Amino acid sequence: MATAQKQVERVVRLFEDIKSLQRYDYDHSFINKSVFDVSALASEVVNTYSPIASEKGLELNFDCSGTHRVEADRDKIEQVLDNLISNAVKYTAEGSIFVECKTNEDEVAITVKDTGIGIGSEHLDRLFDRFYRTDKARSRDKGGTGLGLAVVKGILNAHQREITVESNPGEGTRFRFSLELVQDTV
Ligand SMILES: Nc1ncnc2c1ncn2[C@@H]1O[C@H](COP(=O)(O)OP(=O)(O)OP(=O)(O)O)[C@@H](O)[C@H]1O
Ligand SMILES: [Mg+2]
Repeated sequence: MATAQKQVERVVRLFEDIKSLQRYDYDHSFINKSVFDVSALASEVVNTYSPIASEKGLELNFDCSGTHRVEADRDKIEQVLDNLISNAVKYTAEGSIFVECKTNEDEVAITVKDTGIGIGSEHLDRLFDRFYRTDKARSRDKGGTGLGLAVVKGILNAHQREITVESNPGEGTRFRFSLELVQDTV
């Protein structure tokens, strides 16, 4: 029963991902911006993953002290964080996951880092392509579709932002993107 429910959820998510990707292709104007604190949002997403991280025995570290106000599409940035953190949890068997925010001049850089299986350099070029998965057999067990990172890239592109990845197989992976900070007007 639980499995059937999971399958349904998966299909619904796949359908939604495909729909939004098609949209990102031709229309960037659907981005619905507001001003919000991205560290508070990241903390919410981290909290939703702490039960499954602790079930796997993973340490989930969060380091985003202070407020980082940005003007962006809150729901879509939530989807970006959700995808990156869910990957970190999914592709890490032991060790830790770190979610960090660091201010750099007029931007906040958000990093999601793990001590997981890592990604071979031969995959990095195609990692953000639709349906691309590094190890078909192994990732099929994990139940994904290979759309998460394509959605992440589409959303950040629509915000005129990029995402970078650094990884060492067997050591871990680090994804990073940044958003412009909203300056306080006095
Ligand atoms: N943190 C990570 N560590 C190791 N491999 C990763 C990590 N994040 C992504 N990958 C690799 O990149 C592939 C693509 O990731 P993506 O999020 O697009 O798809 P998915 O997780 O397989 O499925 P979905 O996100 O659609 O459920 C994954 O299948 C996995 O091989
Ligand atoms: Mg994923």
